[in-house]
Amino acid sequence: MSTLTVIDHPLVKHKLTILRDVATPFPTFRRVLRETTWLLAYETTRHLRVESGTVETPLEEMTAHSLPNPAPCLISILRAGNGLVDGLMDVMPEAAVGHLGLVRNPKTLLPEEYYCKLPSEIEKRQVILADPMLATGGSTIAAIDRLREKGVRNLVFLSLLAAPEGVEALQSAHPEVPIFTGALDRELNEKGYILPGLGDAGDRIYGTE
Ligand code: PRP
Ligand code: URA
Repeated sequence: MSTLTVIDHPLVKHKLTILRDVATPFPTFRRVLRETTWLLAYETTRHLRVESGTVETPLEEMTAHSLPNPAPCLISILRAGNGLVDGLMDVMPEAAVGHLGLVRNPKTLLPEEYYCKLPSEIEKRQVILADPMLATGGSTIAAIDRLREKGVRNLVFLSLLAAPEGVEALQSAHPEVPIFTGALDRELNEKGYILPGLGDAGDRIYGTE
């Protein structure tokens, strides 16, 4: 069974066009990425557990459902992952948030870790790992390896764009991890950039080009 879900939605397509456009300035890019994440979040969070309890409406008591304790957790692969996590936090403010600093070495294309701060009891939480770009897959695989070391069992990965090469690498390294993405692009170029892609996600979010 494929672990890949491409979130096929007209508004995601429309917003992706704005994000891909080289003429889109970074304040617009950041805002539209946040809006796109709200839409991607709907499908990505479908698997979350809820607990039964009761709530008193103005008219009567009823059985109702809430997120469990400890709450799910969002993990950002810095720095571009923050662009997705900002939108995920809007729809799930109860979530704890962790950060994994990984930067891809431009020569080797291999990820190098420079920071790791994770929520307590992460092994008991459902985890959404987020990075807008699944290119070679190296950063995502390294992040999942790290989370597994910390005892994380229940995990899904969300990206904005994915390259076939990255999906294949991730499925081969972690075949049990569901992958959600806004679009599956054509291929990688020789520098490991996604084609047609949107360029360097971190630079486009933070205006550091
Ligand atoms: C980008 C992107 C991913 C990684 C994807 O980050 O946000 O983390 O590259 O590439 P991969 O699948 O080949 O590993 P980058 O290393 O440029 O760091 P940044 O987020 O700090 O810009
Ligand atoms: N990282 C990015 O930010 N963009 C790509 O196309 C590939 C890796």
